[in-house]
Amino acid sequence: MSTSNTTRIAPSLLSADFARLGEEVRNVVEAGADWIHFDVMDNHYVPNLTIGPMVCQAIRPHTTAPIDVHLMVEPVDDIIPQFAKAGADIITFHPEASRHPDRSLALIKDHGCRAGLVFNPATPLDWMDYVMDKLDIILLMSVNPGFGGQSFIPTTLAKLKQARQKIDQWTQLGGQPILLEVDGGVKVDNIAQIRAAGADTFVAGSAIFSQTDYKQVIQAMRTEIAKGETSAEFTQP
Ligand code: DX5
Ligand code: ZN
Repeated sequence: MSTSNTTRIAPSLLSADFARLGEEVRNVVEAGADWIHFDVMDNHYVPNLTIGPMVCQAIRPHTTAPIDVHLMVEPVDDIIPQFAKAGADIITFHPEASRHPDRSLALIKDHGCRAGLVFNPATPLDWMDYVMDKLDIILLMSVNPGFGGQSFIPTTLAKLKQARQKIDQWTQLGGQPILLEVDGGVKVDNIAQIRAAGADTFVAGSAIFSQTDYKQVIQAMRTEIAKGETSAEFTQP
């Protein structure tokens, strides 16, 4: 069963073996991953330090799957052209970390990448209202950013439904499609509910990389996503 026409699974490299990143990327794509989620942390906007454009460039030749760069950095703008050059396909950032989110979104698009905003658990969705025309994706954090392996915050489900409504309203009025991604604590046993709430793109780090058989987890996730689509809660235009 594949739902990958309408939904995407994006394993987060944060939980991969950093000593074997190229191989991990190849293996997880071979196992059915749609995107590679690339978490960039600066020990300033979030209390952790991870990987930057040089590592993005190093893994780029290992896959043709889109690299989904999640910037948890402040400031934002200087690093955008560097990631575009390093082969990123999608770049998202936290609006609180940019002085001018509208300008940062335009900068990402000017560099040929898909652009999006990321919402922390306590960040209101209002930030998206005035930049709808520049969004290819929005990402709702279902944990506080900074670390893998945290538990899914249940209030994200209601927020996903609100985001879904905003996006659907926009596209019904003729706006461009906007993907709805979720990040943090996504597991086989909650992904159906998350799909039912309206997410179409699922980041999962520890749930995938903690297992030896990536294919089995990804397939189990797809089966559960399909269940979410047949649940009574699921509403999609
Ligand atoms: C957290 C990162 C997430 C994280 C997800 O700040 O943005 O991408 O790696 O990891 P899990 O799936 O383990 O919660
Ligand atoms: Zn992330």
